[in-house]
This record gives sequence, C-alpha cells and structure tokens, in this order.
Amino acid sequence: MRTVNTINTDWYYAPEFREEYTSLTAAPDWQRIRIPHTNRELPLNSFDERQSFFVSTYFRKVRLTAGSRTFLDFDGVMCACDVWVNGQMAGSHEGGYTPFSVELTDFSKAGEDANVVVRVDSTEREDIPPFGHVVDYLCFGGIYRDVRLRTQDHAYIASVFARPEKPLEAKKDLAIELTVDGLLNDAAGAVKCELLDGTRVVGSAQVDLVPNRNSYVARIDAMEGLRVWDIDDPALYGLRVTLAVSGSDGDGPTDEWTTRIGFRAAEFRKDGFFLNGRRVKLVGLNRHQAWPYVGYAMPARAQRRDAEILKRELGVNLVRTSHYPQSPYFLDACDELGLLVFEEMPGWQFIGGPEWQDTECVNLEEMIRRDRNRPSIVLWGVRVNESPDSHDFYVRTNALARRLDPTRQTGGVRCIGKSELLEDVYTFNEFNYSGEAEGKTPVRKQRIVTGKRTNVPYLVTEHNGHMFPTKRFDNEERLAEHALRHARVLDAAFADQSVSGAIGWCAFDYNTHKDFGSGDRICYHGVMDIFREPKFAAAVYASQGPCEKGVVLEAASRFAKGERCAVRMIPVQVWTNCDSVVLWRGGERIGEFFPDRGAFPNLPHPPIIIHDFIGDRIVKEGFSERDNARIRKAASVAFEGSPDDIGLVDKIHLASFLVRKRMAYGKLYDMIADYVNAWGSKDEAFRLEGFFNGKKVAERVYGGDACAVALEVRADDDALSVGDWDTTRLTVRAVDRFGNTQPYAAEALDVRVEGAGELIGPNLMPLSGGSTAFWVRTAEAAKPGDSIRVIVRSGRLGESVVTIEIR
Ligand code: GAL
Repeated sequence: MRTVNTINTDWYYAPEFREEYTSLTAAPDWQRIRIPHTNRELPLNSFDERQSFFVSTYFRKVRLTAGSRTFLDFDGVMCACDVWVNGQMAGSHEGGYTPFSVELTDFSKAGEDANVVVRVDSTEREDIPPFGHVVDYLCFGGIYRDVRLRTQDHAYIASVFARPEKPLEAKKDLAIELTVDGLLNDAAGAVKCELLDGTRVVGSAQVDLVPNRNSYVARIDAMEGLRVWDIDDPALYGLRVTLAVSGSDGDGPTDEWTTRIGFRAAEFRKDGFFLNGRRVKLVGLNRHQAWPYVGYAMPARAQRRDAEILKRELGVNLVRTSHYPQSPYFLDACDELGLLVFEEMPGWQFIGGPEWQDTECVNLEEMIRRDRNRPSIVLWGVRVNESPDSHDFYVRTNALARRLDPTRQTGGVRCIGKSELLEDVYTFNEFNYSGEAEGKTPVRKQRIVTGKRTNVPYLVTEHNGHMFPTKRFDNEERLAEHALRHARVLDAAFADQSVSGAIGWCAFDYNTHKDFGSGDRICYHGVMDIFREPKFAAAVYASQGPCEKGVVLEAASRFAKGERCAVRMIPVQVWTNCDSVVLWRGGERIGEFFPDRGAFPNLPHPPIIIHDFIGDRIVKEGFSERDNARIRKAASVAFEGSPDDIGLVDKIHLASFLVRKRMAYGKLYDMIADYVNAWGSKDEAFRLEGFFNGKKVAERVYGGDACAVALEVRADDDALSVGDWDTTRLTVRAVDRFGNTQPYAAEALDVRVEGAGELIGPNLMPLSGGSTAFWVRTAEAAKPGDSIRVIVRSGRLGESVVTIEIR
C-alpha cells in the first residue's frame, strides 16, 4: 500500500556546495531548516537580486521501510538539482516549477537511514527556462515547495487522468485513463475506480489486468444525480483508484490513488468563453507566487489565501498563473473556490536553443500531468510569455499539450500582433491603452491585432501594468487614474463579444530584476501591493460582483483638502455595486448619485462619479432653481479644473446672476468654495451611504480633519496548525476615527513575536501608505495548546497585541 508523508522538517542547509558533501553520513553542523525554504531571505526592496543566485546544499536522513519501494517526491526546487543517496547519484531535475521524483530503493537498505544530499542550483542558468535573457520577476531559490516520502509496493499506479464526458447531461460519463507500473509478468488482478461524493461511492468500474500491458481505460457511465462544477458552485468529486494484484507480488490491495475531479464544460469560442454552455465574460488578474523576504517559499495556507483574495476580495473569476506552473495548494483552492485558471509553462520573452526547448517541453509535460484533473484549469499556456513566433517549437508544445490532454484548449500569450496562431485561443497582451489623453482604444478589435479575416477565440491576457505603475503610497490622483484605466479596459472587453475577457496585470506587486520596476526591485503593477493590501484599482474588480454577495463601497478619495493638484477635490469616483449613493456633508444631504453608464456602458457596475459637492444644499440660499443649477455646474467645472474652464455662455449667466443679486464675485466664490470644501471651510465629515433595492446597505465616513488615532492590527487567522510550518499574515494600519487608513502616517513599528511563533522578515518596519503587513510562522517546537503572541509597538499610536492559537 502507498503511504505518503511530507518530510519538510529535519533538513540541514549550507549556502554552498562542495564535492565532499555528496557522501555525508551525518547531519553536519549546518543550519537546521524547514521546507518550504528560500536559499536566502531578502530585504523588501532595494537589494541586489544576485545575492540569491548561488548553489546550496540540503541534507536529511530518511528512513526506509522494509520490503517496499521508496521515493522522494519534490514539488518544486529552483531551478535545478542533483540528488545523492548514500553517496550515489540518484536523480536530478531541471526547471523550478514542476514536480519530480527520485527513487531511493536501490541506493539504500530497508530498515536503515539513507543520507540524502540535494545540490540546489539557484543560479539563473541559461539552459533552463525562463532564463537566458532578462526576466521581469525574481525566481528566488531553494527547495521552496514540499518534499514527500512515498513508500509503496512493487506494482503501483503511475498516472490517472480522469476525463468527464457529457458533463451537462443528466447521465454523465467518466473515462479514466490510467497507467500501472512495476507489474511482474505473471501478475493478475484488477484496477477498481470509484467516484466519491464525500465518502459515498456514486459510481464505480473495474478493469482486469492483462499480462504485459500497463495502460488501461476504465469507464463509469451514465451516472445520475451528479452536480456540475461551476464558478458559483464548484462541486468536486473524489476519485479513488485501487490496484489489487495477485501472483508473486502477493495478494490484496497494492496501491491506491485519489484525486478530485469536476464535471464541467469550458470552451473558448469566436464569440466568447462558455462555461457549462453559458457565456461568461472572463475578468481576471495575473498572479506571481511571490511574497516579501521569502520569495516563493510559502506553505499551503498562504498559497490558499491568495486564491481566496482573488476570488472573495477581488471578485475575479479567472487567474492566470503568470508565467509558470504554480503551487498545488493554490490550485487546490482554485478548484474548491470556483476560480478558473489559465496555467502556463515557464518563460519570459526568450526562447533558448534545442536543450532549453527540450527542458521546456519536459516542464510542460510535468505541468499537464500534474494538473489535468483539475476542473478549475480551462486553458494551457504553451508559448513562452510574449515570445516571438517559433514555428517548430510551438508546433511541438501544442502537439504535446493536445496529446497529454485533448480535453482542454491551448493558448499562447503574445504581445506581437499578427503572430502565428498554432494554439486554439489567441491570447494577447493588450498594452495599447495609455490613458484617455492619448486617445488610444483600451481594447482593439481582435482582427486588427490578429491580422486575420475572421474572428478566432480571443482573450486579453494582460493590460495596464507597466503602462501605469502605481504605488499604494502614490498620491490620490494617480491611484484614482490607475483604477479608471483598469475599468476602461474591462468596459471595452465587456463591450466586445469576440473578446472572451481581460486579465489585468496584475494582482500583487512583486520583486523583480534591476531592469524592471521602479529601480528598487519591485514592480508596482498590482491592484494590491506586495503585502496584498488594496489600491483603489482593487475596488474596480471587487465592485463588479453582485451586491447580494457582498457590498462594495469604496471612494477613490481621502477627501483631504490639499492632496490633489490645485486643491481640487472633485471628481470623486466611488467603486460600488450599490444602485446609488447618497453623499452627506456634516448633517446636510448633498445628493444622490448613480452609476456612470454613459462613460462605462458595459461594466456590470460602473463607478459612481461625483462631480458636484454643492448638491441640494444650495436650496437654502433661496436662489431660483435655474440659478442653483448654473452655480452648481460652474462650480463643478471650476473645481475639477479651473475657473477659466467655465464656458462663455455659463460665464455670462453667472455675471447676470451677480448683477441681479447685487453680489460681488468674491462673495459668490467664497460661498462655492465653502461648499466644495476649500481651505478654511468647515471640517465636517463626508458620509457616503450605499443603497441597494431601496435600502441602505453600507456607509463610509471620511473626515477632512481626520488623523491617525490608532493602530489596527489584524491576523488573517486566529489559529495555526502543527506539523509542517504554518503561517498567517498580520496587517497593521494607522486608522483615523472613522476606521480609514491614514495613507501618509509613516510610523515606525517594532514587532516582537513570543511563544510558539517566529517572525518572517525584519522586526523593524515602517508603515508605508499608512499600512504594512508581515507573516508569522509556527516555531518548530509548536504543539497544540500553545499560542503565539505578536506585539506591535509604534512610537505614537501605542501597542497592540494579537494572540494566535496553535491547534
Ligand atoms: C508584460 C509581461 C509581464 C510584465 C508586464 C508588466 O509585457 O508579460 O510579465 O512584465 O509586461 O506590465
């Protein structure tokens, strides 16, 4: 029988490699580490990335069980490694994003400890994708994903590919392609396949073993009462495959393999993307699997949390794993949450020579074999991101993908128009748009890009990004413009049925090489920062979901009097899925405002753009309705731009108003200035109320005179687990009395972690953009019942303590 356990603890690490290490027999006096492990912790930014490009060594003792075959399964090692067992070379792997196994059986004796030495090459090797030229992201280094010890009988199930058929019919079929390895010639027996709903078997089939054959297809047909996997109801079923062999190998169950599957139909067509037969406009974001300090080396909980952020906080329906196969834990969560995935092979703009291409094909195969049972994955990326055409190579990658998985379409992300389409879907990075001022369209007609006479299945796979890098601590106008630019591309994608959707660049800011980003080794392209704290653009995505599922009400403004150029305060964009908002200042109602369907006719929830801060309040001045309207209009124009922008006719109206009322221009100006919250006007709070179906469902209050009064410290989880190391994020925000983050409160923080935990990264940190975050991980000795105390101190805003339980 198969047993599989992670062996992420009890490893020893040296940040160098020497030939003599290959024959180590005892745990050397090295640093004791736990996996996921990064070869070197890095600063947040402004560092020389070359410090993580080196060769290192990992050592561990592994106990083999009697009479079995034993394997080490590696989920991901960046970017190449060699494995020695008891001094003998037992295996190696190239490529940092895909799994591989090394068999220990022949190199060691059952019942004894084997000495495992792993030489990890984290230099950016030109013969291994994505390296060879420049790359706009860091790949970090180390054994950064789980390692497992697998023991099993001689004969075993080597692969299972379950292909749901007729997913939308009442009677659904399942074809299970499987391979069995290690069978002896006289072996007899059978493979049983069971489909499980929880623990209940809902269908089963059996195939008998045939001498000298190791590939089989089992079918479970005409199953009734099964649910369809969908983004709103991601119904998963378990599949248990059991191999029972009799003969010289012995009797009884020999191996068991379990996986999860879903019944769903997903297809990119010329007129959009269809999930389970209905058109779904894809609204997605690209994700890098990186975090501050430890790069890629984060365990299950953090990986899963990213998927939750994308699905629940950002409300997107698709993620692109730019630009490589990502953590199985992340993808598990995508399957469970109903978050669609476009997964692509490693690479960035560059195609290497024949050896490089061979490695790429191996990595592609490893990716598809690992993930082809996942219902969330709807497209394989079989081109190196943004690479030029390369006919033979891409004929090969497409053929490979189609052979390994004929059920899914291929895409190949390009930035060069009119490039050769060997894939099923033309996936294009659309960076045409550079703001309204330049007059370029946010999403071009696909035929202009493809150069084809007819439409093809088409998906925008990146937009914005480097066209408008925006830091969370940038000024409000830039952050608001960033949000608008994402919205304009989305609106254009919604408008064009031949565009399956648009995937923005990108979800989170990320560490990068010196050639990219802001010169500090960060690309500030995320709609959230590197700590997963939202910029205004995050609310563009979040607000596109239905209000019933969660109200979003986010003004892209802090209502401060001097933040914007020329003391402007309007317009204020409100990103919301409410039907309308009512704005109040002090106790006075300014007015009710509605989604701007004129500017964003296609978005499910256009922003509400407030151009008028005077509103209904002017009635109390006793002017006529017509005068009120004219004053409000002129005020909007003047305070969004300048008084010079007021048109001639309006100026004449105002002049006649002043004459009629015998009012000095200065007095009118002061009155308007007071309404629109100019210098010296009363510091009354602005209150935004969100209405849905006639009911008030949300409220936000912003105070012009607000200042930081407290530190708000929150942990994403109140309990962590023992076993392999576990982690959670704590966010720290300087908040005002209304609970809003004060973006320029630049307090210094001192973070102490006591008890059963450790801090990841430095303990001294600044608030940046009014907030920051850090991760705390369980200590190696943590046991159930322990707790972690996190103490956050700031000079001015006091101290906050958060306790996290260990379960
Ligand atoms: C694209 C590239 C991405 C990222 C992005 C920045 O060209 O595919 O990886 O660099 O630009 O906007």
